Amino acid sequence: MQIIEREKLALLIESLKEKYGNNRSALLPMLQDIQAEYGYLSGLIMQETAHALGIHPVEVEGVASFYSFLRTDTKQGKYVVRLCQTISCDLAGKARIARQFENELGIQFGETTQDGKFTLEYTNCLGMCDQGPAVMVNDRLFAKVTPEMVPQIINDCKRDFIKTTFPEIAPSDVQKEGPLLQNTVAMGDGLKKAVVMSRSDVIAQIREANLKGRGGAGFPTATKWQLAGTAVSDKKYVVCNADEGEPGTFKDRFLLHNQTDMILAGMSIAAYAIGAQKGYIYLRGEYLYLKKYIEEAIARRQKANLLGEKILGNKEFNFDIELRMGSGAYVCGEETALIESLEGHRGEPRNRPPFPVDTGFMSHPTIVNNVETFIASAIICANGPKWFLEHGTEKSVGTKLFSVSGDCEKPGVYELPFGITISALLKEVGAKNTKAVQIGGASGHCVPESEFERTIAFEDISSGGSIIVFSQDRDMLHIAKNFMGFFVEESCGQCTPCRDGNVKLLEGIEMLEEGRCSVSYLNELVKLGRTIQIASKCGLGQTSPNAFLSIVENFKNEILGRVPEKV
Ligand code: FES
Repeated sequence: MQIIEREKLALLIESLKEKYGNNRSALLPMLQDIQAEYGYLSGLIMQETAHALGIHPVEVEGVASFYSFLRTDTKQGKYVVRLCQTISCDLAGKARIARQFENELGIQFGETTQDGKFTLEYTNCLGMCDQGPAVMVNDRLFAKVTPEMVPQIINDCKRDFIKTTFPEIAPSDVQKEGPLLQNTVAMGDGLKKAVVMSRSDVIAQIREANLKGRGGAGFPTATKWQLAGTAVSDKKYVVCNADEGEPGTFKDRFLLHNQTDMILAGMSIAAYAIGAQKGYIYLRGEYLYLKKYIEEAIARRQKANLLGEKILGNKEFNFDIELRMGSGAYVCGEETALIESLEGHRGEPRNRPPFPVDTGFMSHPTIVNNVETFIASAIICANGPKWFLEHGTEKSVGTKLFSVSGDCEKPGVYELPFGITISALLKEVGAKNTKAVQIGGASGHCVPESEFERTIAFEDISSGGSIIVFSQDRDMLHIAKNFMGFFVEESCGQCTPCRDGNVKLLEGIEMLEEGRCSVSYLNELVKLGRTIQIASKCGLGQTSPNAFLSIVENFKNEILGRVPEKV
């Protein structure tokens, strides 16, 4: 650990203020960069940063302690080994990898080696679910980790990754492409067509295509843009939610790597349509290695006058995009929590209304769309809405990207039409002997075999794209426990139903596991789950009991089998 010299620190803070701006919203990237320099955020660092930005040190500590990738603990090792404990990696053999790390380093998870070199930690989904078990060491990702790879990873750390034996992580396998992934739109095509239209005509095209947000909620994109476009304000913002953190989701990792230009094009078209001058991509901390590709793509578009001042010769169209990194908080995938994070606060969701389209980033109208929605918007503007309308169902138009993991022969990214049945999807991915499918990640529903003819569409089972397959030999209670553990860790702690309720549900699952849960207490747990759904403040709490409740409902016999007769 470096000794912190005040003068050197002050110089660093000054340069970061220049880079990110002298305001509160610079706080998170400043802390990330300072941590990259010093390895942790000491009391002195937090104090000096607070002083530089004119805020109270407690505010800085509140932020530093909220995000799991920020360290205020000096005892952490130079290399923090984070092993994914979420369900797809768990099924892929996380436990064997954990044992191997513990044996090699002579410490348990949660501990640091005596020489201060290594810390072992569990983490939640790293967005590598099709290539599990996944491990992240500082900023480096390792996929399909085997026990044999563990000593090699440790040796690479000891050599500071000079001459590493592991190649850079590959994007996920694309198993099936459709019109969205096969698009041949050239850089700038969509935007060139948009800027010669009126703003309202651009929105009308998106409306004609009936594009709905691809994050899972399915809010009409044109309505969102229209509301922000008609809001009166001297500043407006476009935000790309690239913080996919839903367990089982990794398609955006592929898109951010392979379709970067389309994402930037979609954001620019949205900016033109609503009259925004500034855009942010909020990228999840686990995808730090994608930063350089995105920044290169931004620079390319700036050079081609597709970003910056007077875009494509339009004197009134000035728009630029900045990349901001998340720091390991699942809740920041919720749009108001994401905006709080961008503003330099703890990622705690806001009360709604007001909605971001009216009062968003820095209280100005803001649209937040996800990666896939921006790509679809760019292609719709380039090619017109017709191609889009040819796919999907009446209420769920277009294709959808799915991240498929778990018990199947061909995990990876799939582009499939909305309205596909679960059974057809399972056939496509080579799943056999399937007991259940988790649709929509930890916050989604666990669907049993009897419902495999249902469709994935906004009008039936909605999904942001996470599909996790479970074969007949899987223990459903173990799956419920894994998901519930995820929510206990990721709850932002603002509201009681989510903060305390999920802990109670997890305790109940553990009681079931140990044969100490009566039928009447199980019924109480179900009631508690329903209360959490209704009473929680944001989407995280409102959806956190879904997996547990659907497993209890759909696999009643298996769960009741864990209830002893005389309790
Ligand atoms: Fe481990 Fe997603 S990376 S479950």
